Amino acid sequence: MGYALKETEYRYRAWTKDGIWQMGKLTTNKNITIHEGSNVFHYGQGLFEGLKAYKTKSGKIQLFRPDMNFIRINEGLDRIVAPRIPEELFFDAIEKVVEANKDDIPEYGQGQSLYIRPFVIGQGMNLGVKPSEEYLFSVFCAPVGTYFKGGLSALNFVTTDYDRAAANGTGQVKLAGNYGASLYPRQIAKDAGYAGVIYLDPATHTKIDEVGAANFFGVTHDNVVVTPKSSSILPSITRKSILYLAEHVLGLKTEERECFIDNISEFKEAGACGTAAIITPIGSITHKGKKHQFGEGEVGTIVKKLYDLLLDIYYGDIEAPEGWIREIK
Ligand code: PLP
Ligand code: COI
Repeated sequence: MGYALKETEYRYRAWTKDGIWQMGKLTTNKNITIHEGSNVFHYGQGLFEGLKAYKTKSGKIQLFRPDMNFIRINEGLDRIVAPRIPEELFFDAIEKVVEANKDDIPEYGQGQSLYIRPFVIGQGMNLGVKPSEEYLFSVFCAPVGTYFKGGLSALNFVTTDYDRAAANGTGQVKLAGNYGASLYPRQIAKDAGYAGVIYLDPATHTKIDEVGAANFFGVTHDNVVVTPKSSSILPSITRKSILYLAEHVLGLKTEERECFIDNISEFKEAGACGTAAIITPIGSITHKGKKHQFGEGEVGTIVKKLYDLLLDIYYGDIEAPEGWIREIK
């Protein structure tokens, strides 16, 4: 299965009225008609989230840490000066969309799931550079397999001289523009035969920031799981979960700190993690023409253990830490 190739029937739409969110409803209309002067078209006032629903062996449907997406979307809305979404609206939308499209949730196993895409856009005639007066919140979904091709085979990444976000810019939120900025460096990497880009910190270009659509983590030779500390990366829910599992289930040390690209050989294993990516093993990183391979260039032992744990939790095969799973009844 490719990434989100099949469209589902129902989506949810809600609008603001006088700056206040109103409860929304399901629709089968895939198109949105909004004013040509809408902020989202001209000034990029739009952001999105991504989360997944998994089917367990017994047929239950469960969401992985949706409360974290709820917190993050509101942090993003603060950053683009748009009204916060009430909890009741957020979960009404997610739950209704999953229930309505439940026949399209892939069966248990093999990394497949229903990817859920909430988003908010500023709409309405607005030529001045200022926040919109009206907003749309919508949620749609699609059945997906793994984001990076190749399952658990380790992929090759390359650093770039481009930045996706500024040092004190919008990298910490899922602003649409961050992804627009990433298309060109991604294309260059793809054309050169790489699976994706490793962004460096925009201020000094000496430290690993993240992968284009996932966070980076590495495992040192003495088994410490390390992830970059940076003001320009998205605080990944998967990364947070991996660090927790590494520490509390595998009994490993974890660190959130600077990861200098010139010191990349401190890691014997590496991975890219995110809702879409799940955990994608990184086989090598090429920087300034020099290729650094992790281990034998195959999935490392600890990366594999973390992957198995995460999948077991996604699919309900083992009990998740408290509060991580929300079942759709
Ligand atoms: N970094 C970027 C730029 C992303 O787009 C994503 C995807 O959401 C992630 C990291 C991973 O975050 P999460 O684990 O919350 O999906
Ligand atoms: C996600 O993992 O949810 C993402 O946002 C990655 C991507 C498909 C943009």
